Amino acid sequence: LASVRDRDAVADTPRRTQDRTVSAPVGTDGPLPGDPVPAGFRAELDTDPSLPANRDWARRAAATAVARTEVPLVTDPAAVDAAVERARTCGWRDVPAAERAATLRRAARALAAARGTLLSVMLHEAGKTVAEADPEISEAVDFAAYYAERAAELDGAPFTPDRVVAVTPPWNFPVAIPLGGCLAALAAGAPVLLKPAPQVRECAEAGVAALHRGGIPRDALQLLPTDEADAGRRLVTHPGIDRVVLTGSSETAALFRSWRPDLNLVAETSGKNALVVTPAADPDLAVADLVRSAFGHAGQKCSAASLAILVGPAATGSATGRRLRRQLVDAVTTLRVGPGTDLATTMGPLIEAPSAKLHRALTTLEPGERWLVRPRRVSETVWTPGVRAWVSPGSWFHRTECFGPVLGLMAARDLDEAIAWQNDTGFGLTGGIHSLDSDEIAHWLDRVEVGNAYVNRHITGAIVQRQSFGGWKGSVLGPGAKPGGPNYVAQFGTWHDGDLPG
Ligand code: SER
Repeated sequence: LASVRDRDAVADTPRRTQDRTVSAPVGTDGPLPGDPVPAGFRAELDTDPSLPANRDWARRAAATAVARTEVPLVTDPAAVDAAVERARTCGWRDVPAAERAATLRRAARALAAARGTLLSVMLHEAGKTVAEADPEISEAVDFAAYYAERAAELDGAPFTPDRVVAVTPPWNFPVAIPLGGCLAALAAGAPVLLKPAPQVRECAEAGVAALHRGGIPRDALQLLPTDEADAGRRLVTHPGIDRVVLTGSSETAALFRSWRPDLNLVAETSGKNALVVTPAADPDLAVADLVRSAFGHAGQKCSAASLAILVGPAATGSATGRRLRRQLVDAVTTLRVGPGTDLATTMGPLIEAPSAKLHRALTTLEPGERWLVRPRRVSETVWTPGVRAWVSPGSWFHRTECFGPVLGLMAARDLDEAIAWQNDTGFGLTGGIHSLDSDEIAHWLDRVEVGNAYVNRHITGAIVQRQSFGGWKGSVLGPGAKPGGPNYVAQFGTWHDGDLPG
């Protein structure tokens, strides 16, 4: 199965606001027959720093303290006005689609050439491990290559690009998400102002510099690190900005809307994602994928698994249940926490001291729960991972996105109860099932309410084109198409025949 675009389902199920992406493990999923695969699609390769070919290179990146530029914050709203004006008059909208596509292809090559610098900044500034940062750089390269082909498709289309687009990404994917948003708008012909997350301004600067080297004009792509106050608000509410791309919390989306009710917002927001493990699962695979999904980048991903819903004997004191839990505890307690620059680290630090929500998740149990693995504070930002059991349906932890290294286990009677709990979080971003029983998988696929449904695989790390990424329900705002998918570029403008291309 690959990137199945479930258009009919969108029409007849009101809860579904977007296409759904269904993916089975790498090896069986891939581009659909006939899909073009642009060169450079290589996310998830070269990610293992223990491979000899990668080790020296990764060690050099970790050891290289990138000259810190201390990108200054823009606090003056007049600077935003000036940037909008430069973007509006830069002429990018008049560049023919084929030429834009060629520029994006060059930008993809320039990004790939900047891999060492990007890796270094990501390790040092964002606390990413090599295993997390390297595929993220690949993802950014893939976005450039994929959106270049979408730009080429716009040649001759009855389409007028947006005047100026603002991109407001989060800090957790400090290269792929900001650059992906910018590249999509640029592919459509819209100039972009990028407001990076304050924690990772240097990652954004390194990425933007690479795109400029690749030929994207400086006024068509401007880094505008505004504060979160007057200048930030000016950017979101500026009448010259036609659309804002937000990847962030539901709270930020609501704030933007309160500032500007008529805002054209493309928003991918929060998630509370679960992986269901049935008694028919392969426990070795299930545990490996759970740990990767829950604790990759210390759980700081909207796509992360925050819940593992174990079904029937997988949850009980039976041999199956005991074995699964023992393997899980072993795997979690042998994660090595530390800085991303230490190549032995398998779980990096938090971006900053835990939020109130995350602090509660790391330190306080709900009635009826106990720690299977108790988190420990090593320093303000370094915490060892935690596993709590058994999370009750409807409880605080069941429904709250905590964005950190805590996994909650739930014990479901049967698969239907597991699916009901998986769907009952208010969100619908990612979800997974581990089962080797095809009837169970089919049953689950018919009922699970998520934008990205993963079968027998980890539930993070969507790959451009193969797994366009985006949620349903509380995980998305508006009808926006999914990043890395076929219609994403085409939404940055106006169609004169009233329809998007197929
Ligand atoms: N695209 C990322 C993932 O799939 C989340 O932003 O994990």
